[in-house]
Order: sequence, then structure tokens, then C-alpha cells
Amino acid sequence: MSNILVTGGLGFIGSNFISKIIHKENFVVNIDSETYASVDKSFLNFESNHNYRHYNLDIADYQKVNNIIKKYSFDIIFHFAAESHVDNSIESSFEFCNTNVIGTLNLLESYRKLNKKHKLFIHISTDEVFGSIKDGFFDENSNYKPNSPYSASKASSDHFVRSYFKTHNLPVIITNCSNNFGPYQNKEKFIPTIINSLINKKNIPVYGDGKNIREWIHVEDHVDGLIHLSKNGKVGESYCIGSGEEYSNIDIVKKICEFYDVLNGTKDSDKLISFVKDRKGHDYRYALNSSKIIKSGWNCKMNFKDSIKNTITWYLKNKSFLS
Ligand SMILES: NC(=O)c1ccc[n+]([C@@H]2O[C@H](COP(=O)([O-])OP(=O)(O)OC[C@H]3O[C@@H](n4cnc5c(N)ncnc54)[C@H](O)[C@@H]3O)[C@@H](O)[C@H]2O)c1
Repeated sequence: MSNILVTGGLGFIGSNFISKIIHKENFVVNIDSETYASVDKSFLNFESNHNYRHYNLDIADYQKVNNIIKKYSFDIIFHFAAESHVDNSIESSFEFCNTNVIGTLNLLESYRKLNKKHKLFIHISTDEVFGSIKDGFFDENSNYKPNSPYSASKASSDHFVRSYFKTHNLPVIITNCSNNFGPYQNKEKFIPTIINSLINKKNIPVYGDGKNIREWIHVEDHVDGLIHLSKNGKVGESYCIGSGEEYSNIDIVKKICEFYDVLNGTKDSDKLISFVKDRKGHDYRYALNSSKIIKSGWNCKMNFKDSIKNTITWYLKNKSFLS
């Protein structure tokens, strides 16, 4: 049995991750301070599992983090917890530094001090740390050029993680993933916002001219990539995780309107599209070259077209999730 610490396990990706790994071979402890972004526990299927414990505490509190890490002497840590919304980071950046930077440092320092042979610290990060790219792709050797306070805080945390490998020989892996979508994503994020607007027949806000491009990966493919790297990844390395499926924001909205109308028996939902003032410093395009993780034996199993239909269906069946 492995003792696993998951941070941010009540968030969008963390909760999908725990659902996947919670079985009798694993004992999972989840540190999550239940911010506004955490999933309501009534939606989760692992809450009552005997091999699961949740601690509601702030990773920015070193003593509390250290008590849990000492108590369970974890084999492996999957670090998801973060303030994750770019718009919020523009309005108020301090929380992003506290959670994303100090919180990550607390976990690293506490794990390092454990008196045992460490197995692995997996740090879940984003493609946004590389900044914006007009043509071509980012890969593991790309320079860091974060443009938002969110991506700056994630970049900083990536650097701390790398430094603990170089300085203390702590076994770490850093992952930089593209935009995720799927069940349990907070309604503040782009795809749930579109679906929520459609359900409530409200305007669908699209920043600027809608031409900004993102690479979209289904959360299950991301989760599989993380599990794959925990077994096959090389310690001290970083891995880009993407699907290769790029779409402009306006294309995403139009596709969702089209599929929503078919699934919901409605018509002309794209009339709800409403262009709004652009986000400050809005990155034009993110795109990853994921050949390193692909060569190590992982591949995306989902395609955008089918998995976005499944995602719309999930939100239609779970409308209360968006309320
Ligand atoms: N969502 C994406 O598209 C995406 C893409 C690439 C990387 N990532 C990274 O993946 C990770 C998870 O993202 P997500 O979309 O699931 O985020 P999320 O906002 O849905 O969930 C974050 C979780 O962390 C918890 N949390 C926040 N601050 C905390 C603190 N101080 N102490 C303890 N818990 C705290 C929240 O309660 C929440 O449950 C983040 O590190 C993010 O940077 C996300």
C-alpha cells in the first residue's frame, strides 16, 4: 500500500485524480482548505472511502502542513492546490503568492525534512509559465516568460521545486499542462461559464475578439498522464502534457452552442455570444510540444469533439453544480 498526499484534492483536477486513484492499494490524504473553488463534497464519491482522509488546512501554514507530513510519512506527493483563476490574480495577487509560492515551499521543505527515503514529489503546473507564443510550440526547454500574476506565481513555484531537486536531491517531477476541461470544473472557468450561460439563457461573455488560442485536454487524460509519470517519469525532469488540439475561444463557444442545441433540443444558441472588454495582458496563444511524455508511453485517449459532448451532458445532468 502507498501512502499518498494529494493537495487541492477537492478542486477540479484534484477531485478527478482522487476518484481515479482511490482503491485498496492506496491510502490517500487530501489537504484542501475548501476555498470557494473546491467541489461541494456531496458531489464526490470518495468522501466515505476507508482509505481516505481530508484535512481542511491552508498549505501556507507551515506548522500544520508539517504535522500532517510527519504523521503519515508519505511515499509520494501530488501537489495540485493552488489559486488557479487568472482573472482573480489580476484583481488581487497576494493570495496567489501565499498559496502557490509559499504553500509549495512549505510542502517541499516539510517533505525534505522527513526522515525517510523519499519517493516522489509531483508538482502540477501549467503551460502558462512559458508566456504566449504566436507560431510553433513550447516544450520542456522553453524559457519561462509568465505574463499574469497567476502564471508568475506558478513559475515561481516551479523554480522552487526544481531548486529542491538540484540543491537537496529531493526527487521531483514538474508537469506543465495545457487547459483542462471536464466534470467538476468551477463555474468561473471558460467552458463551464459557456454551459452555465446556455442553461440560463444568458449572454455568453467572450473576451476581446475571441481569437485567443488554447490547447484543450480532457481532465481524465491529464490525470492519466500524472499517474503514468509517477511510474515512468524521470526524476528531476519536467514534462509538457497537452492534447495537440488547439482552438480559438470563439471556435470553442460556437462548437459548444452547436452541440448544446443538439443535446438540449434548442436552436440558435450562438445568438447569446457577447464580446466583452478584453482581459488585461491576455496571452494570445498557448501550445505545447508533448512528444517527451508521448515517447515515455503516454497518449491522449479522448478527442475534443466527443469529450466536449460528454462534458456538456455531465453539466446538463448536474445543473446544481453550477448554481
Ligand atoms: N485547470 C486547468 O486548466 C489547469 C491546467 C494546467 C495546470 N493546472 C494546475 O492544476 C492544479 C489544479 O487546478 P484546478 O483547475 O483543479 O484548480 P481549482 O481551483 O479547481 O482547485 C484548487 C483546489 O486547491 C484548494 N486550495 C486553494 N488554496 C489552498 C490553500 N492555501 N491550502 C489548501 N488548499 C487550497 C482549493 O480549495 C481547491 O479545492 C493547479 O495547480 C493549477 O495551476 C490547471
